[in-house]
Amino acid sequence: MSKNARLILDEKEHTLPVIIGTEGEKAIDVRSLRADTGYITFDDGYGNTGSCESEVTFIDGEKGILRYRGYPIEELAEHSDFIESAYLIMNGELPTRPQRLAFSGLLRENSAVPVSMSYHFEGFPNEGSPMAILSAMLSSLACYFPSLATNNREKDLENFNHAAAVAISKVRTIAAMTYRMGKGLPFIYPRRDLAYADNFLHMMFSEPYYDHVPQPEIARALNLILLLHADHEQNCSTSTVRMVASSGANLFASVAAGVCALWGPLHGGANMAVIKMLEQIRADGDDGTKFIEQAKSGERRLMGFGHRVYKNYDPRAKIIGKACDNVLKKLGLNDPLLDIAKKLEEAALNDDYFLERKLYPNVDFYSGIIMKAIGIPVEMFTVMFAIGRMPGWIANWKEIASNPKGRISRPRQVYQGPVSRSYVPVEKR
Ligand code: SDX
Repeated sequence: MSKNARLILDEKEHTLPVIIGTEGEKAIDVRSLRADTGYITFDDGYGNTGSCESEVTFIDGEKGILRYRGYPIEELAEHSDFIESAYLIMNGELPTRPQRLAFSGLLRENSAVPVSMSYHFEGFPNEGSPMAILSAMLSSLACYFPSLATNNREKDLENFNHAAAVAISKVRTIAAMTYRMGKGLPFIYPRRDLAYADNFLHMMFSEPYYDHVPQPEIARALNLILLLHADHEQNCSTSTVRMVASSGANLFASVAAGVCALWGPLHGGANMAVIKMLEQIRADGDDGTKFIEQAKSGERRLMGFGHRVYKNYDPRAKIIGKACDNVLKKLGLNDPLLDIAKKLEEAALNDDYFLERKLYPNVDFYSGIIMKAIGIPVEMFTVMFAIGRMPGWIANWKEIASNPKGRISRPRQVYQGPVSRSYVPVEKR
């Protein structure tokens, strides 16, 4: 493997060092390019550009491999749970029993939202977007916990465990409060005796006069969904978190920005778009055949399919697809949307248009069906993605904040606008 890259520009040869990752990924280090050559690189959408060296998550898109801190997603999905994996992603190691107990205790202590913070919900319109509310409320955590959001990196790192627990625990409470507000229901306080996912379901579906006790299958399915979303390398929202963190901004500001990036239908909004797509196909009386043709012609997009990195099956889609069958069977549910999804998958995986472009189901293709089965309303699907991704965003914020040599992210551009002009008075325009 080359140790250097040789570049010939304007008849001059330049040598650029090569960086090799622990999993054999290769990168040309262009940090000296502009100073040495006057040239910059151009890579619209950053499909060929590494923004950082990270130790959190590894993806091999060609082989459909996903590992959190070296542990395969399949093993974590089978043996771990969301909170243990969140600890692993943020701290680099699986927790010992005392570490797990301490982390769970910190989450329990920080699960409630300050009463004064809950007053914001009186101002939001009931039909307000849950993602808009989530981003606003996460950003406002800096007002209620100023000592955890000083924008002084040394201090913010000293308080990292507390800030991380606030973000992970309260994102779930804020989400449940948003749902209750949207339904015109009273808020339900978190309970200290419930595990993370059970507590969320309690805050979503209990009433002041009775506690909702979720079926174990439902709590386990939700836990799995959150675990599978916990991190995913430098996706759009995580890169946004790193971009904001690079300016020295605190954890809450950075993850609030991550929520906004995740909101888009090409990213975290896809899980909602998949359900809407399946419902439309069903309403049209189509078995998926017509829709596949429309997707191939570019008229429609097969939401939940395709991925910038995975050019093979998204391993999370496989796990969620299997869980879908199990959860629906255990709950005695028969969702026609699952049949349509399976028909679409079958058709697409045998169609050259999708095969040539290496378009396979991604994490969003089946996740909505499970969330629908466990009672999460469609408008909350992307919020669930944000709850799951919180540990990954936090781990990436920490990598930026802990890097003493880190620099503010500030990409260059190739200017294509009007060449320099002189001012023309309005009477002469
Ligand atoms: C997530 O990055 C991550 O890791 C994200 C994520 C995470 O965990 O953080 O994995 C979560 O965001 C998953 C992706 C969810 N989005 C969707 O399911 C939306 C539908 N998918 C696409 O819009 C698309 O596949 C993207 C956005 C996911 C990836 O887009 P790219 O890499 O920019 O690919 P592209 O748009 O350049 O498409 C390449 C070709 C094009 O055809 P041609 O121009 O070559 O003829 O493939 C076609 C596209 O038209 N194509 C699709 C398609 N996705 C790509 N055609 C039909 N249906 C699709 N879904």
